[in-house]
Amino acid sequence: MEFVTLLTLTAVMLAGRGDAEGVPPPTGVSYVWLDLLTLRVSWKKPIGNFQYMYMEKSTGEQDKQSTPWRNFTVELLTENMVSDNWTYLIQTVGGPSVSQIIKSPKPRAEVNDIKCVIHKTSGTGINCSWIPGNQMFNLSYRVFGMNSNNNKKFTPCTRPYSSPTRNGCYLDHAKAEDSTCMLFETQTGYSTYEMKPMVDPPELSIKEEGGELKLSFSKPKVPQNCIWTYNVCYSKCNHPKECQNFIWNKEPMFVPYKKDCRYDFWSSIKAGKSCKGVFSDFGKVVSYNSTATNDTLTVVSIVLPIVLSVCIFLSCYCFRRYSSIICPVIPDPSAIFKEMMMNGNKELKTTGTLYAPVPEPIESCRVDPVPDYMLKS
Ligand SMILES: *[C@@H]1O[C@H](CO)[C@@H](O)[C@H](O)[C@H]1NC(C)=O
Ligand SMILES: *[C@@H]1O[C@H](CO)[C@@H](O)[C@H](O)[C@H]1NC(C)=O
Ligand SMILES: *[C@@H]1O[C@H](CO)[C@@H](O)[C@H](O)[C@H]1NC(C)=O
Ligand SMILES: *[C@@H]1O[C@H](CO)[C@@H](O)[C@H](O)[C@H]1NC(C)=O
Repeated sequence: MEFVTLLTLTAVMLAGRGDAEGVPPPTGVSYVWLDLLTLRVSWKKPIGNFQYMYMEKSTGEQDKQSTPWRNFTVELLTENMVSDNWTYLIQTVGGPSVSQIIKSPKPRAEVNDIKCVIHKTSGTGINCSWIPGNQMFNLSYRVFGMNSNNNKKFTPCTRPYSSPTRNGCYLDHAKAEDSTCMLFETQTGYSTYEMKPMVDPPELSIKEEGGELKLSFSKPKVPQNCIWTYNVCYSKCNHPKECQNFIWNKEPMFVPYKKDCRYDFWSSIKAGKSCKGVFSDFGKVVSYNSTATNDTLTVVSIVLPIVLSVCIFLSCYCFRRYSSIICPVIPDPSAIFKEMMMNGNKELKTTGTLYAPVPEPIESCRVDPVPDYMLKS
């Protein structure tokens, strides 16, 4: 098939090169939006034994094969736009190309963080939610697929809901196995998105068995016949988290278990290509042995600094509180030391060979016994 195409293409290009000057560019190019997703571009001339090619400039992706048709229909998502317009280059094979700039009404709808969760047990019904902006819009949806007869209508959302942080709508007729386009229409513009269906995060149960932790994960009921890859992350004794992937087979996963450690687990799931990459967020953290905190690393890294800072704080506090009693001026350690030596034991008086502080005026430093009530307070 490809070989034949290649041959045809080569033949056409050779023919084109033969009378390159004679190949006129397309003229009378125009476009029409069949709906807010579907665009049809057509041109009037040249008519005859010509082949045409077209390409979207920013993506460079669309049909580079030649066709005898003087029109094409594509579905374009505002979500995928790299600028504020699409530019199509249309060419009579062997001749120069003309460009057609396609506009779509702006502004876009303000929706962020769209999440669409497939119904747990049935393949039909998808619960979509998003973080709204300050503007009103209407949501509708339809399956992708060329809409050349304009008979694939958008279905309006009929079960909207709102919450303090997220708004949403339950799409009754959306199906997990379809590719679905979501259309958010405001008074002045619109946005189109490709729905990326999700499932709930897997549920995890943990058991201790033979010195190991046995982890068992739930598997989504729908979509069916998917190859599920689990991503399981855990941290043990506050060590940095480790993650590992495994493909679902009924076997549980085993993790070596240290009894004086706390374990925290997170997991998410993703389906293979045959299920359009349906995925989940990470689930809630599931902990095991959550009372264990006497790990040496914990002691060193958390408890010790706390004890130290409390000690430092207390000594600062005590010193400040009694500083007027202990020493009325700047606490000069050498002065205190010297006075203690002089008043205490005169026989131990040091000579010049040892450290002798530079003579300086010594202010009187009275040390009163600390009254009992002050020590207790
Ligand atoms: C598109 O081109 C084909 C082939 O020339 C023609 O049959 C068809 O009617 C055209 N469609 C439109 C809407 O112009
Ligand atoms: C279309 O987008 C391109 C790329 O951002 C930009 O350079 C060009 O000015 C735009 N054309 C119109 C007519 O808006
Ligand atoms: C859709 O999801 C929201 C938020 O998670 C939830 O409150 C609501 O009950 C769900 N609706 C249905 C019909 O499942
Ligand atoms: C939503 O749809 C209703 C009914 O068709 C219409 O009256 C309303 O103006 C629409 N709202 C927006 C923001 O487009």
